[in-house]
Amino acid sequence: MSQVVRSGVSTAIVRKASITDVPAMIKIARATPTASQWSEAQYFELFAPNSPNRLALVIEQESSLLGFLVARCSREEYEIENIAVSAAQQRQGLGTKLLKEFMRIVGEILPTKVFVEVRESNMVACALYSKLGFKQIGERKNYYRDPEESALLYQIVIA
Ligand SMILES: CC(C)(COP(=O)(O)OP(=O)(O)OC[C@H]1O[C@@H](n2cnc3c(N)ncnc32)[C@H](O)[C@@H]1OP(=O)(O)O)[C@@H](O)C(=O)NCCC(=O)NCCS
Repeated sequence: MSQVVRSGVSTAIVRKASITDVPAMIKIARATPTASQWSEAQYFELFAPNSPNRLALVIEQESSLLGFLVARCSREEYEIENIAVSAAQQRQGLGTKLLKEFMRIVGEILPTKVFVEVRESNMVACALYSKLGFKQIGERKNYYRDPEESALLYQIVIA
């Protein structure tokens, strides 16, 4: 995918992530505790040839990486595994732009279901998903550890 988006949040662009983005992705994730905290090896594994099918996008401005999204694909379903925007750049619409572009891409070919699990205390992420049309379809009691917490399951069908 080579398409670049230049609308919405000033001059931020969304593009497909590459392995050279890993250090900046890790830096953003480490500074946003509610993002999924993966090891460095897990980030590099995203780009390994035998890795499961995934779509990884980044949003950047003037070559500065401001956020990323990783989703795993199986059949016509995607699960958002991680999304994070640089702590200093949040609440400017970057997460919305990243997620909208992801939904545009995955909806291009076939009707697609997108799932995401969110800690129930993560009101910001819940608000973001709800704003973009995701519906809460379930709850997994005490799903997370450290701290123990339920997961809310959100879904959207992109036709
Ligand atoms: C969730 C996250 C990606 C949103 O990115 P963002 O760039 O800040 O989001 P946006 O500016 O596009 O805001 C989208 C909506 O989220 C909600 N929101 C964002 N920041 C918020 C805040 N501080 N308080 C309340 N709601 C907030 C609002 O509904 C907002 O829409 P609005 O501005 O029209 O009211 C970002 O907060 C983040 O990186 N959080 C840490 C990682 C994380 O929790 N990831 C989710 C794991 S499931």
